[in-house]
Amino acid sequence: MKKILFAMMTAVLVFALAACGGAEEGGSTDGKKVLTMGTSADYFPFEFIDTAKGDEIVGFDVEIAKKVTKELGYELKIEDMEFGSLLGALSAGRVDFVMAGMTPTEERQKNADFTDIYFESKNLVMTKDQAIASVDELKGKKIGVQLGSIQEGLAKDKFKDSEAVALNKIPEIIQELKTGRIDALIIEDAVAVKYMEQDSSLKTYQIEEDGPTGSAVAFKKGDKMRDEFNAELKKMIDSGEIEKLAQEWFQKEAK
Ligand code: ARG
Repeated sequence: MKKILFAMMTAVLVFALAACGGAEEGGSTDGKKVLTMGTSADYFPFEFIDTAKGDEIVGFDVEIAKKVTKELGYELKIEDMEFGSLLGALSAGRVDFVMAGMTPTEERQKNADFTDIYFESKNLVMTKDQAIASVDELKGKKIGVQLGSIQEGLAKDKFKDSEAVALNKIPEIIQELKTGRIDALIIEDAVAVKYMEQDSSLKTYQIEEDGPTGSAVAFKKGDKMRDEFNAELKKMIDSGEIEKLAQEWFQKEAK
């Protein structure tokens, strides 16, 4: 009898320990599994730090990620880092997916699997006081771009006679233009609008492009989670929910 009781107690103990381990692994107290999103929170209104709310990262991408991870039964955790480090962090397994207004270029697809594009955008050349009338005006000029972005690629491939100045954060690049340390910058339309609302001296010119544009979510190569995420994302696109979120976020005042 004593033996049976002891065996039962051990079984209970082992079970309790296992439950504990599981919760710890998930990194959350209610036992829910966690998915970590890597982002670069310098991209209003896709992802940015809401200073009014402390240092919480909010935005269009964050809303989509929250909804999708909730539908899939995960808790969302967000890691903020430099844009240029995102795909490395993904390959190294430090984050589970990357959502940062990221364009699924051919180059990036070699190292990551992307969902469908959930938001379309175009690239603009931004200058101060006067818009350029043609890209020829950029010859010999300094063009600011974000390090590791498609805009950096554009500056290097398309504007070979200009000097690409690659910086880490979008607000820094805008600042460099305002103070005249660079002559122009390349930026996506959805992000540019807000800075232009704040400063009417900023002008833009739309670049004609052949490369890919828009945003998609990146997963580690071969990760089956990509398909699950994509299915939920597609539901949100088809139901018009993404469109609604876009209207909401792209109308907010720039921070
Ligand atoms: N769409 C561009 C790219 O993929 C720029 C994205 C920048 N995103 C950010 N969170 N700063 O390169």
